[in-house]
Amino acid sequence: MLPLVVLAAAVICFKSGQALLPCERSGLCSIGKTAPYVGNVDSSTGLHAALEARSYRREVILMATDSEQLLPVRQAVHNLLRLGLEHVLLMSASGPDCVRVAGAVPSAGCVWLDFELPVFGADSAAVPIAAPMWHNRYRLACRAVRLRYNTFIVDTDTIFFDDPYVYFKSPPFADFTIINQPEVLYNQDDYVNEVRPNGGVLYIQNAAPDGPAAWLLSEVTDRLLRWIEDGFNTTRHTHDVLTWCNYMDQDGLRDAISSVMMGRIFFASAMRDCRVPEWVQQHGPEYDDINFAILRHMGEGPGEAFVKSEHVQLPPVMQPAAGGEQQVLIRHFAMRQPAYEPWNASYGPYLYPRRRGVLSKQWLSQLTEDCGGCALWPDPEDPSPAVVAAARATPPERYLLAPPFLLGNWFSRGRFGHWNRALSPQGPQQVVGHLHYIPDTDTIVSKSVARMAAGQFDWLLAAATPAAGPGLGGGGSNLYLLMRGSRTTSMAPSLATSYAAGGGALGGGGGSCGGGGGALQAGSPHLVAYHPQLLADLAAAGSWRDYSALLVALATAAEAMGRVPVWPDMPCSAGWIADRGPEHASMLPLDIRTEWVPYGRRRNRLMCCWHMLLHEACVAGGRGMLSLEFAHWMAGARLQYPVEPGAHNTVGTLAPGTAAGSQQHAGGGGSSSYSVAAGRTASDAAKGQQGRPVPLPSGISASAAAAMSRELSWWGQQQAASEGAALAAATSETETAAEPTEDAPSSGGADEARGLAGVSTGVSMGDGSSSGSGSTMDDVGRAMGAQWRKRFQVYSVAREEVMLAWGIRATFAHRVLYLRYPINVTFAPGTDAAWALSNTLNECRATNPAAIEESIANKPHYNTTPTDLWVDYVPAAIGGPGGAIRPSAAIPGYNVPEHHVESASSSGGSSSGATDSSHESGSGNAKDMRIASGETVQQQPVVPIPVERRRRHR
Ligand SMILES: *[C@@H]1O[C@H](CO)[C@@H](O)[C@H](O)[C@H]1NC(C)=O
Ligand SMILES: *[C@@H]1O[C@H](CO)[C@@H](O)[C@H](O)[C@H]1NC(C)=O
Ligand SMILES: *[C@@H]1O[C@H](CO)[C@@H](O)[C@H](O)[C@H]1NC(C)=O
Repeated sequence: MLPLVVLAAAVICFKSGQALLPCERSGLCSIGKTAPYVGNVDSSTGLHAALEARSYRREVILMATDSEQLLPVRQAVHNLLRLGLEHVLLMSASGPDCVRVAGAVPSAGCVWLDFELPVFGADSAAVPIAAPMWHNRYRLACRAVRLRYNTFIVDTDTIFFDDPYVYFKSPPFADFTIINQPEVLYNQDDYVNEVRPNGGVLYIQNAAPDGPAAWLLSEVTDRLLRWIEDGFNTTRHTHDVLTWCNYMDQDGLRDAISSVMMGRIFFASAMRDCRVPEWVQQHGPEYDDINFAILRHMGEGPGEAFVKSEHVQLPPVMQPAAGGEQQVLIRHFAMRQPAYEPWNASYGPYLYPRRRGVLSKQWLSQLTEDCGGCALWPDPEDPSPAVVAAARATPPERYLLAPPFLLGNWFSRGRFGHWNRALSPQGPQQVVGHLHYIPDTDTIVSKSVARMAAGQFDWLLAAATPAAGPGLGGGGSNLYLLMRGSRTTSMAPSLATSYAAGGGALGGGGGSCGGGGGALQAGSPHLVAYHPQLLADLAAAGSWRDYSALLVALATAAEAMGRVPVWPDMPCSAGWIADRGPEHASMLPLDIRTEWVPYGRRRNRLMCCWHMLLHEACVAGGRGMLSLEFAHWMAGARLQYPVEPGAHNTVGTLAPGTAAGSQQHAGGGGSSSYSVAAGRTASDAAKGQQGRPVPLPSGISASAAAAMSRELSWWGQQQAASEGAALAAATSETETAAEPTEDAPSSGGADEARGLAGVSTGVSMGDGSSSGSGSTMDDVGRAMGAQWRKRFQVYSVAREEVMLAWGIRATFAHRVLYLRYPINVTFAPGTDAAWALSNTLNECRATNPAAIEESIANKPHYNTTPTDLWVDYVPAAIGGPGGAIRPSAAIPGYNVPEHHVESASSSGGSSSGATDSSHESGSGNAKDMRIASGETVQQQPVVPIPVERRRRHR
């Protein structure tokens, strides 16, 4: 059944009208043509049977996984199925583990090797537990290649945007025996100098079983075995080389590559990277001499002297993935069979023990037994002239460091927008994308998010995949990150509250709500999110500090309410994200700061998700839901519950007469224009004459609630077309990016887009009545060139009042509550709840300014976007029918923190009192004081950053 569904999806995704699977262009459609296989592949019989079952036309895709994290491998396997490729051979660490893997991926099954790399000796504690499995992956790959199977080694954190065989099997790539992802970590432009391979994405085709490619794979295995079986005597004790030197597949691959480049055994990278630091210190000149000798011979890198760069023509079928280019640069070299040469000590010590030991002999004999005694390569350590001559006579094979569009990683391509359809309508500019490296995040979180951002996250699979780790009782699913257990994070207290309330409110019964735990497992946590209008305001946040302060505020509100916060994302065009100017947030290559994951369906409105949020401590165990997840959650929830933002589920509105409240409704005119500057819509203004608080139905009679709801239905309706584009963009994106890109036919679209782009004009275009300051189009133009900041007011309120008005018990019927204005909740000092909250805030990097500062301190940036805080905290109370916010006196320890210091300029009393925002004293602050004290201030809560400051850095 599943394959059928997948197949149908693939058919639809491909060219309309033509019912073609993507794989039909390569002729390697294996879907339905392989059989699952579960078994041990130590023996030749087992190996032959497994390859027979799992291959198609002598092609096999080899992936290694353990059963701890099954979602990545399931995503990868199903991704291949959508292309029509089923010939995946899954490998795991052990029999029992394989059974679990096979259960999760029944179409493939699972194989394992009983051989376990012995990990011992100095520094072995630093070797990851999974290292023996990675080692076995190369063993298996080498054995398959020896049996003349074309083998594609791929990590499970890869996205197949297109059938790779379309590329591998045609010129200019068809005559490369090895096609390997270049390491190119940071930026694809580095490809021109790259000589290092990435060990996780490597294709071997048409390799001679006794040729250099097969030798190369064998060598990755062999070198480590020879050092281990020698007890590291030769390396560590004799030559001061670290015991577990370059044990990781790709580092081992580099040494092996230096050997096939030179046509002799060589240890280029071990000499440079693996000498014991104390030795290097004591033998500086000797160490330098060795490295100079190697570099002189091999070129910088080392290896550049051997790698050739060349521009090649691409056939039309490959051009879309290469961004429309007809030619690309490729880098390649000839692999020569290593032959014996007397060791030249100027390249350092010879690192192999004189004699082979048990492990490496067993390895070589396994290689011959597999194929019934077929020949090995000429032994590169055998000095006899015949063997040397045979080695030299072995035909070379070609090695390609793949151009990044063919095999590339997220950080060097995806984050620049090349994986995004909105920026390349012809399709993603990537054939195989490797998520690989997403710095300063928990990769289990960020890799899922990068998949979501690429529109390649399969939500159904996620829902059907049990969460790993100490989960939330009863084994939650992997659907949302909040359902994951976490090694470092206990269940958020807010969620515990939610469970308790669920049990209480529902009397422990299932019923329609399914009880607390049930509701959570069904993907229906109770959430609190910023209202779309507040999100639109947020787009004008002027620095990460403001943004983080609003995340903190949301976290405190969520904690007090017993709900899970929905972390808002930022428009990528914000001045402190696209710090070379907003135009760099809508064209390839994106030029935005490195700590953001861009996504979106419209090129002018790309949204950005912050690396600081991509930590288990911010999401797992109910800590938070990401906007990308929320968009998916909404798509399902809106069919069942009234979850669209509306009067019934929006809280945190301002009481009548509240300064900011009346200011909010001060605008005139009934047009549909939209002024982000004032943080309001015209429709907001249009209905504003009564300035009424939005109560919740809970405390009032049903008919009153209905009346209120009717009265305030604009929230649901008028917003529908252009509703908080932040949300809309996010929502639409996650429906796998197959749909065509189009712009919303929204009358207020232009303004809205600008607002969300963080570039507010400060005047309300198309609405004369509110731009009464005599601004001209020139002003508008100038204003748009500058970055604008919004000064935020956050209402500082007491936890008790929030719980009473909007706590989970009072609001359980609402799956999601929207906050129209930000509140920062004070918890009574010394209580468990206060302690738990401060723990949460400290652990999640996004809500810990000191940790953020540390994290971005060393990251490149182009301008000096100020990072001072432009948030005013206004002491407030929640009260009245339905609970509206009104400014009130500050009561330290109750509605403001204990250490609260009353601002000098604050008039105190019940209608004022912004908390001291220390270093801030500019006009903005004074104006906000006026707002806080009830004075209506027209215009300009948004203040430009001086233009000169930006120009300097152009
Ligand atoms: C260690 O290696 C050195 C040099 O190759 C050799 O002389 C010595 O006998 C070895 N010791 C052991 C215990 O293998
Ligand atoms: C060893 O290599 C160096 C260059 O690194 C070269 O100058 C020298 O002649 C070589 N020695 C022998 C014996 O080949
Ligand atoms: C916001 O609330 C948190 C939690 O109560 C508190 O630690 C923090 O000091 C508050 N922020 C301000 C500026 O009042």
